[in-house]
Amino acid sequence: MRHFLTLADFSKEELLEMIALAQKIKAQTKQRKFVPYMEHQTLGMIFEKSSTRTRVSFETGIYQLGGIGLFLSSNDIQLGRGEPMKDTARVISRMVDMVMIRTFEHSKLEEFARYSKVPVINGLTDDYHPVQLMTDYLTMLEFGKENPVVAYVGDGNNMTHSWLMLAAIMGFELRVATPKGYECDPEIIARAERLAEENGGRLIFGNDPKEAAKGADVVTTDTWISMGQEEEKETKLKAFDGYIVDEAMMSLAKEDAIFLHCLPAYRGYEVSEEVFEKHSEVIFTEAENRLHAQKGIMVWLDQHR
Ligand code: CP
Ligand code: NVA
Repeated sequence: MRHFLTLADFSKEELLEMIALAQKIKAQTKQRKFVPYMEHQTLGMIFEKSSTRTRVSFETGIYQLGGIGLFLSSNDIQLGRGEPMKDTARVISRMVDMVMIRTFEHSKLEEFARYSKVPVINGLTDDYHPVQLMTDYLTMLEFGKENPVVAYVGDGNNMTHSWLMLAAIMGFELRVATPKGYECDPEIIARAERLAEENGGRLIFGNDPKEAAKGADVVTTDTWISMGQEEEKETKLKAFDGYIVDEAMMSLAKEDAIFLHCLPAYRGYEVSEEVFEKHSEVIFTEAENRLHAQKGIMVWLDQHR
């Protein structure tokens, strides 16, 4: 049995198998052909943080695969009143067939997985957001960016960490520009660099967003204030001066460069209204692809137990 906790848990071949499944199931779904790959299975979906895309895509995804999703907000289950993660894992995983969790510390997800009898999927932690990056990879392929140079401009956060893993494993160039003091976690960088060495990825770090954007095929960013960091807002906004992805920044990238954003987007902060609307077709295809990419992941995990 395999868990989907970070991209680093898988080889390039395995991740490509999940992407191929996602592409196949997306094509079937577009023809309104709902193949019951996971008939009568239940996906438990534990949320300790807010969500629009993750909740809707997993719940709809498992339903379209012939199963059912259980939305379990920590406000409503005993986990939120202090029942230990390991007990929650031992109870829920005896009743459902797969679990998705969105939580704070990555170690809480790992603890759940350690005690779980069924595959566990990371729906976002403070450190990683791997299902989003599988989606972003699928989206890049759809828009013809097969071996891209990607510029990530913004906060060194869970999204950036998963971009590092994706670039390292898939073997493309990722340039990360973060303000001083908001760089990625050094341990995660070291792990990604080891993977990049094995797979031919190129990871470049700096504090100059314009330098990163120059000649890029894909420009991407994320909110400067992740969930749980609301109190840091005032200090962070000052540090991120000059990091908005606006027309001037996009004009440094290749002429046919695409802009990706995992959403939710905060216009006027990490991205300008103009750039957001100009690239909205890509951005909302990316959002829709959450549904398809995650079906590929769930079916792959189900086939490997
Ligand atoms: N991108 C993403 O994970 O969105 P939600 O927070 O709405 O799930
Ligand atoms: N970095 C953001 C991603 C939201 C999908 C957060 O953790 O809040």
